[in-house]
Amino acid sequence: MGIREEKMTVDDQAARARAEKVEALLAQLTAEEKVNLVSGLGFNLNFSQPEAFETVPGAAGYTYPVPRLNIPSIVLADGPAGLRIWPDRPGHNRKYYATAFPIATALASTWDVDLLTAFGHSVGHEAREYGVDLWLAPGMNIHRDPLGGRNYEYFSEDPFLSGTLAAATVDGIQAEGVGATIKHYVANNQETNRVTVDTKVSERALREIYLRGFEIAVKSSKPWSVMSSYNQVNGTTVSEHERLLIDVLRHEWGFDGVVMTDWFGGYDAVAQMKAGNELLMPGMPERTEAIRTALDCGDLDEAVLDRNVRFILDVVFRSLTANDHSRTDTPDLPANARHARQAAADGVVLLKNASATLPMSSTARVAAFGTGSYDFIAGGVGSGDVNEAYTVSLVEGLEARGIRLDATLSEMYATYEAEEKAKLPKKRMFFELAPSIPEMPLSEQCLERAVADNDLAMITLSRDSGEFQDRSLEGDFYLTLAEQTMIDEVSRAFRAAGKPVVMVINSGNVIEVASWEDKVDAIVLPWMGGQEAGHAVADVLLGDVNPSGKLPTTFPVRYEDVPSAEHFPGIELDGEGQVFAGGLMVAKPAEVTYAEGIYVGYRYYDAFGVAPLYPFGFGLSYTTFEYSDLVLSDEHFNRVVRVSVTVTNTGDVAGKESVQLYLSAPSHKQYKPVRELKGFAKTGTLQPGGAETLTMLLDAKALASFYDDQAAWVADAGSYTVYLAASSRDLRLSGEFHLAEDIVVESDLTELSPADNPDQLIPG
Ligand code: BGC
Repeated sequence: MGIREEKMTVDDQAARARAEKVEALLAQLTAEEKVNLVSGLGFNLNFSQPEAFETVPGAAGYTYPVPRLNIPSIVLADGPAGLRIWPDRPGHNRKYYATAFPIATALASTWDVDLLTAFGHSVGHEAREYGVDLWLAPGMNIHRDPLGGRNYEYFSEDPFLSGTLAAATVDGIQAEGVGATIKHYVANNQETNRVTVDTKVSERALREIYLRGFEIAVKSSKPWSVMSSYNQVNGTTVSEHERLLIDVLRHEWGFDGVVMTDWFGGYDAVAQMKAGNELLMPGMPERTEAIRTALDCGDLDEAVLDRNVRFILDVVFRSLTANDHSRTDTPDLPANARHARQAAADGVVLLKNASATLPMSSTARVAAFGTGSYDFIAGGVGSGDVNEAYTVSLVEGLEARGIRLDATLSEMYATYEAEEKAKLPKKRMFFELAPSIPEMPLSEQCLERAVADNDLAMITLSRDSGEFQDRSLEGDFYLTLAEQTMIDEVSRAFRAAGKPVVMVINSGNVIEVASWEDKVDAIVLPWMGGQEAGHAVADVLLGDVNPSGKLPTTFPVRYEDVPSAEHFPGIELDGEGQVFAGGLMVAKPAEVTYAEGIYVGYRYYDAFGVAPLYPFGFGLSYTTFEYSDLVLSDEHFNRVVRVSVTVTNTGDVAGKESVQLYLSAPSHKQYKPVRELKGFAKTGTLQPGGAETLTMLLDAKALASFYDDQAAWVADAGSYTVYLAASSRDLRLSGEFHLAEDIVVESDLTELSPADNPDQLIPG
């Protein structure tokens, strides 16, 4: 028996034992206790004054305990860039910091399954030691549009990459005994009117793009929990959507954990109960009351409540708390900081490196421009914001490596930033985005001196973003006038003296680069790299880490090129708005049509002949790699094709390479993307001349597309072309295999969208 099978047997035995225990408890629970168990204990926005039940201040929620039956309350805390807890506790004269890891998009840029699993372990360790049972992450919504405010919490525009990396993360954290919650299920790709918006999406796009990542994660990593999203899908609120929650999630995919609402999500508690949204978070007295009333008057069958309680208790009894784990409150933060630094460095994407500007010399004198150089943003705002002890900025990272930074400039920026920050209004809520500080004007004299005293210029562009708000085009996706002026002036002054300009993009999200790309010599994208970002970027700038990150999301030339541009964030409808978040936010009735259908990200750019600036999967290295010896295990598809390729480091320095496998399927029966990511693998560190052979597998599902009319995944007979690629636009090798007859991979699937499917974009 293999290790995996052995583990499954042990898991099965444990599951059976839990099921027996839960059944025995169900027989003893009163109806009132069951009504209470399906909701959390409530939410306290005042982190500095925890309620009695808040054993981990800053955790987002707690399940309901029944002490007389030894049913404990378990602790739920946010992510995804680490563990979100509150650092202060009344009466404690120490801090409870957590490690801010790189954001999900940065982690995804590593294309490294093992790294994501290690990340899961690291977060799991902190959760264990701080007494958290269930992590409210990873987030895995698709980057549909670069203006999506929470994209930073999500991996990619591609469902295969998202699903695979989410699964790897879940594997890691759950191996520590801490549960994962994949979220937000599903089609929750914007913040504007997020609690009201009705997402109109075709069945095929839902299946192939928006559900697919969740499907991969559920099937391969068995997360303990799924969080339903706020939005509606084709007219039904997701937390009340029985077909999505029971038919797809449980019956089709075999999900055996618990479904919880997003915080305060949905409207009709009884409908949620019936639809299989077992746990209502964070718990609201009026919803508990509605369930109690429905039970009393016969509108809600007790058997439904029993079913829901069963799933909740099953997860409760998997938890560390229920298994008497005692926390230390002293996780190994230095070790996790090291992991965060490595992950951040591996997630850096080198977008441009003209004339081998980088790696820079360790004796170079550096003039750092841009307020962001002195004040890196570790992660975005909202529930995904981790309370870390510190954030290493770019200049601190460089200084720690002995790089001489321009002290006059540093002082000017320090004074300027302090003055500008003092002018900012005080945040009313933790999730508010602070207005950004305008870039400091640079005088001619200041520039002249900086050019004379330094060997190169570094500029940081910083962008914050987060929950509750989507980004704006002007001054966010596009640069502010002050930023453009800064780039123009620094570029002109330094280049006139033959000195290079290096740009660092510290953003959780895609920004416009095309208009200024030629004004700088190198562009480094660490995204929001977590608390260790400054060290990690320095590692890359100095060449101690050879960048191996690749884009998990396309950088378009301009916003209008984005396939969803015309339909984001949808339209507002007539009707009353809802006020929430303490009166700070309003959501109007709204709908958004996913008219681009399956053509999201590179699937669109490739099919519609739109050239991206930096394509999906793109990233430079300080070395070069050659791909050779593509071998397909079979020319004829029979259950599986094994694809192997050899990667050789043909440059002068050691490095790692992520290889992408794209598949082009026959499209005589229905239109299909030109090619789709169906596999990827990363080499270890290859020394110059070193080589490694990577192997990837294609099964029937990888060949299949979804047929709305048949409610089935079908692999069409015909020729399939496999591309081994360095990016979605850098195809290095190709091979073909043939499928003799159609394979119906899965059929009789649940119908998810009513007849009023939105119009679909079809390539001409
Ligand atoms: C977010 C979730 C989060 C929850 C608990 C909600 O506002 O959408 O992602 O897990 O709050 O903090």
